[in-house]
Amino acid sequence: MQTEKPIIIAHRGAKGMAPENTLGAFRLGVEQGCEAIELDVHLSADGEIIVCHDETLDRTTNGKGMICEKTLAEIKSLDAGSWHSEAYRGETVPTLGEVFDAVPGSLMINVEVKQSYDGNMDRKLVQFLRERDLFDRVVVSSFDHQCLHRIKVLEPKTKIGLLYQLRLYNPAAYAKTFGVDVYSLHPYHRLIDREEVEQAIRAGLHMYPYTANEEQDLKALIDWGVSGIITDYPGRLKDLLALG
Ligand code: G3P
Ligand code: CA
Repeated sequence: MQTEKPIIIAHRGAKGMAPENTLGAFRLGVEQGCEAIELDVHLSADGEIIVCHDETLDRTTNGKGMICEKTLAEIKSLDAGSWHSEAYRGETVPTLGEVFDAVPGSLMINVEVKQSYDGNMDRKLVQFLRERDLFDRVVVSSFDHQCLHRIKVLEPKTKIGLLYQLRLYNPAAYAKTFGVDVYSLHPYHRLIDREEVEQAIRAGLHMYPYTANEEQDLKALIDWGVSGIITDYPGRLKDLLALG
C-alpha cells in the first residue's frame, strides 16, 4: 500500500505540452504543480553545460550539428521552440545556470548526464554544484554508472541516481554494493514491480521511475509507494494524486 505520496517530476519540463528542455517547458511544469524537474545535459565546445536531450541540435532546434562542436553563442542563436509550436517561437536552448536562475529555489532538479566528455562533464558539473551550493536539491543521474561513481568520488556531497533500462535482479542490492553511496534508483517504469519498490525503500533508497504517462501506470506506481514519478504530464499526475 502507498504510504507517502510520490513527488511529481516533470520530464524535460512538461514535455507532453511544451518544447522539451526549454525554460517554457520548465515553467509550465511548475504551473502544473511539479515539485521537481528532470533535464539532460551536454557540454558545448567552449565548456558550457547545455540543457538538451540529444547530442545534436537537429531535432529540437532550427539548427544542426553536434553540441560539443558549437560555442555557447552559436547555440544561443537558435530557436528551440518553433519546431514544437508557434506559441513557443523564441525559446532558446538553456544553459544549466539559466534553468536554476529561472525556476523556484524549492524545486528538486534531477540532472541527467548524457555523456562524460572524457571526464570534463564530471568536473564541470561538480564545479557548478559547488559554486551554487546545490547539493541539497540536485540529484545527478545517468545510464553511465562509471561516470556517476567518478562524480561521487570527486565530490561526496553529490546525490547520485542510477538510471537503468534493463531488468535488474535486485536493484537495491546492486546499489548497496556500488562502492559509493547511492541516493536513488531511476528504472524504466515498466521494469519494476511492487516488491522491487519495497526492497528499494526498505534499503533507504529513493525510487524515481521514468517516464510514466498513462493513468493506469501512474496509479500503479502511486500504489506501490515510489518516491517520485518522472512524467511528461505533471498536471495529470497532480490530478490523480488529488483524488487520494
Ligand atoms: O531520466 C529519465 C529519463 O529521462 C531517461 O531517458 O531518454 O528520456 O533521457 P531519456
Ligand atoms: Ca533524461
